[in-house]
Parts: sequence; C-alpha cells; structure tokens
Amino acid sequence: MKEQLAFIGGGNMARSLIGGLIARKSESARIVVADPASQQLTSLRADYGVRTTDSNNEAVAHADVVILAVKPQQMRAVVTGMAASLLPGALLISIAAGIQASAIRQWSNGAAIVRCMPNRPALEGCGMTALYATAEVSPAARELAEVILSAVGATLWVDEESHMDIVTAVSGSGPAYFFLLIEMLEQAGASLGLSRDISRKLAIETAYGSGCMARAAKEPPSVLREQVTSKGGTTEAALRHLEAQNVRDTFAQAVAAAARRSAELAAEFGGQ
Ligand SMILES: NC(=O)c1ccc[n+]([C@@H]2O[C@H](COP(=O)([O-])OP(=O)(O)OC[C@H]3O[C@@H](n4cnc5c(N)ncnc54)[C@H](OP(=O)(O)O)[C@@H]3O)[C@@H](O)[C@H]2O)c1
Repeated sequence: MKEQLAFIGGGNMARSLIGGLIARKSESARIVVADPASQQLTSLRADYGVRTTDSNNEAVAHADVVILAVKPQQMRAVVTGMAASLLPGALLISIAAGIQASAIRQWSNGAAIVRCMPNRPALEGCGMTALYATAEVSPAARELAEVILSAVGATLWVDEESHMDIVTAVSGSGPAYFFLLIEMLEQAGASLGLSRDISRKLAIETAYGSGCMARAAKEPPSVLREQVTSKGGTTEAALRHLEAQNVRDTFAQAVAAAARRSAELAAEFGGQ
C-alpha cells in the first residue's frame, strides 16, 4: 500500500487494524495515529513503530486515507474539527456504529466516505466487516478500504446504507449470541454432571469446529445440520425440543430488536 494512513482514535479497534496492517507488511512509516491519551500513543509507537500525535489536524494533513476510529458520540466534533486540514480527495473510512455517511460527508465539507461495521473478533484477526460506500467513492478507493479492513478478517459490501442496521444486528451483535450459546451449553453440561472446565472446553471447541466446518463447506448450514442429525438419535432429540419451544421465532425477534435499536442509536448520534 502506497497511501499515507491516519487513524483518528488509537483505541481497541484502531490497534487491531494497525496490528493487522503491520502483520501484512504495511510500512509503519506510512501510518500516523492521533489520540488525546499519551499512554495509548506510547504503546502504539512501541508495539508497531507508527508515528503518533495528539493533534488530529496534524495527523490528517498529509493523509490519503483517514480512518475514523472514535466513539460515535465523538464523531461530529472530531470530523468538524479537522475538516479544514483534510487533503483534497482524501478518503474517510468510518468504523463508528450508526453514524450516517451523509452526516460525515457534510461535517467533512464533502469528502468521499466509506462506512464500515466490523465486529469484536477483529481484535483476534478473525472479524467480519460489512462496508458501504457513497456514490462519490471511486473503485480504487473502495478497493483500498477493503484492503485495510481485510487486515482483521473477512469483508463484504452492502449496497444500501439502511442495511447497516441489519448488519449490526447480525454480525455486529452476533458474537454475543454465540457467547450466550457457548455459555448455555457449558451450563447444561455442568448441570448434567460434568465439571465446569470440561463442559466449557467442550462447548468452546464445538463452537469453533462448527464455525470452521460451516465456513469451509459448500452446503448451507441447514444441510450440515441435517447431516449431523440421525433419525431417532441424540441430536434429533435435542433439536425437536428446541423447535417445539419456538427457538427460531424467539431468535428472529431478538435480531429484529437489535436492528431496531441500531436504527434508534443512528438517529440519536448519526443525524445531521
Ligand atoms: N470494539 C468493537 O468491537 C467495535 C465493533 C464495531 C465498531 N466499533 C466502532 O469502532 C469505534 C472505536 O471503538 P473502540 O472499541 O476502538 O473504542 P475505544 O477503545 O474507546 O477507542 C476510541 C479512542 O478514541 C480516542 N478519542 C476520544 N476523543 C478523541 C478525539 N477528539 N480525537 C482523537 N481521538 C479521540 C479515545 O481516547 P480516550 O479513551 O482518551 O477517550 C480512544 O482511545 C467506535 O465508534 C465503535 O462504534 C467497535
């Protein structure tokens, strides 16, 4: 990557993206990070050799790409505060939940915007990020955004910005659903007589293995489920119980609640 990158905010997400980029041989000299917390900057310098500053304006002054990695409630002040220092043609990539691209475009006096929704496993390099680009973003800039976000896992594009609320409900909040499932499986095994440690390991490794299988398979997950459910067997006994309790409806309603909440939060922080 030949471009100069500026990270505004040097917290958890910025750190994992920077770590991913450096691991993929991006030059640390091309990366500058701005954050008000000097401790944060010292450790980023020590760990990755990137340049740092406490001035957002200084960070963006020579940046082709600016990654906005601050909390949603900080976004408006951050973008309006540095708008005058942006290079003409700079690409802004926002990873903040809920903030609309049109709002960032207005605050930045018309920059090209890519909006992303990564998820927590990005911190382990196995995230899932959905991206959305406004019409002004060139194909080359889209590709650049994808290269940057793919440093921490898988990526895909959505064509409609309103779909970002659904993305938030599915993959943004999704890790919590899987943690709950692991937690419940651990609890169930322990209630039936296994030790906590044994039950937890069984649950975690089974989640990991199932994820690996689902990822590698050509068949959809429904077919994989059928393949591991023999007639009259143990798995069928469990699944029949779950279906009788309307687990599908409950889950669909839960994800819909998350999507509604995402839209509410977007209205609160992301409006113009
Ligand atoms: N973590 C996730 O799983 C996840 C997933 C998807 C999306 N996101 C999005 O990613 C963004 C960052 O999340 P995070 O978890 O990395 O948060 P974080 O760890 O709190 O990082 C935000 C950083 O921005 C700094 N900051 C605050 N005001 C600033 C300013 N005016 N100029 C420059 N930097 C400033 C903060 O410093 P102080 O600590 O001193 O305030 C902090 O170091 C959020 O918008 C979040 O919605 C996160």
